[in-house]
Amino acid sequence: MATMESLIGLVNRIQRACTALGDYGGGDQAFSSLWDALPSVAVVGGQSSGKSSVLESIVGRDFLPRGSGIVTRRPLVLQLQKTEDGKEYAEFGHLPRRRFSDFASVRKEIEDETDRITGKTKQISPVPIHLSIYSPNVVNLTLIDLPGLTKVAVEGQAQTIVEDIENMVRSYVEKPNCIILAISPANQDIATSDAIKIAREVDPSGDRTFGVLTKLDLMDKGTNAVDVLEGRSYRLQHPWVGIVNRSQADINKNVDMMAARRKEREYFATSPDYGHLAGKMGSEYLAKLLSRHLESVIKARIPSITSLINKSIDELEAEMDHLGRPIGLDAGAQLYTILELCRAFDKIFKEHLDGGRPGGDR
Ligand code: GDP
Ligand code: NA
Ligand code: MG
Repeated sequence: MATMESLIGLVNRIQRACTALGDYGGGDQAFSSLWDALPSVAVVGGQSSGKSSVLESIVGRDFLPRGSGIVTRRPLVLQLQKTEDGKEYAEFGHLPRRRFSDFASVRKEIEDETDRITGKTKQISPVPIHLSIYSPNVVNLTLIDLPGLTKVAVEGQAQTIVEDIENMVRSYVEKPNCIILAISPANQDIATSDAIKIAREVDPSGDRTFGVLTKLDLMDKGTNAVDVLEGRSYRLQHPWVGIVNRSQADINKNVDMMAARRKEREYFATSPDYGHLAGKMGSEYLAKLLSRHLESVIKARIPSITSLINKSIDELEAEMDHLGRPIGLDAGAQLYTILELCRAFDKIFKEHLDGGRPGGDR
């Protein structure tokens, strides 16, 4: 399956190069349709339902601002890229030449960059922050963290904030290639879940929605979420996954990721309610489920991605011919990078996956 992995890796790099092209490529049909053709995973749900915590667990590193109230105030487009050389670092789209190897400073930069646009307020902005994480321990995946859906504006927020957030979230999850991680807290009635409400609206068949139930540890004693987790309360095409993230007290005590995962595993293994589901619960299982799903989605889309890429190659070559006109050096270099990546994708595809069976297990 090395081939599949390298294709997904290339898809990620093409996305990143399209992003880096920024304003230059922004209005360009070829690049935006190329970006949209590639699957990504967006996390949606009510405020403080545990979205940022779930994302962090999937990545396996502590780097996101989390907490009560509205913490995530701009979309964060997070690209995970598996490295073969053991190196682990992060890079921001707005700081292209700086490598972050300390994840605490990644969190600080997300906070600072959020404030740079919104000020130290409770306001939100639709302008995304782009972050790439390179690590031997991640799967190739694009994840999007979004501000939480709310019911009312609080002091310091515009009256339109409820709709503003909803529209921002919808603009991501309505894309047919967006996989929706719909996060609902187990200590609230699933019938009132904001995540399920918007997921149902944009994905009525439920075939690109993954239901995630957080805060199982916070349910009232004597109650459990077995009906939800076994799909009887709200049916989805994919199985529901239950999660136990770090509590605010754990965060305050700096409980690290590995300790949190161990605790989560123990919680399910020893739970009288969920013991029979233990193998299909928890953050690590969710990460595997998602990466397996993403792989099958990409396999199914390879023919259309390839034809888009071939179209882009033509357009890029035409674009390169016109490089005489004054565009930035960086834009030229980015165009060249995209062109090279597209060619590499096309080459691997032709060599290994061609012959009418692009989904073939080779
Ligand atoms: P977001 O606003 O949806 O991104 O939610 P966060 O990830 O920032 O989490 C909000 C708060 O809920 C934080 O204080 C977390 O510690 C807490 N929290 C999230 N998930 C769980 C969970 O599964 N169990 C417990 N006990 N607390 C959680
Ligand atoms: Na929050
Ligand atoms: Mg958040």
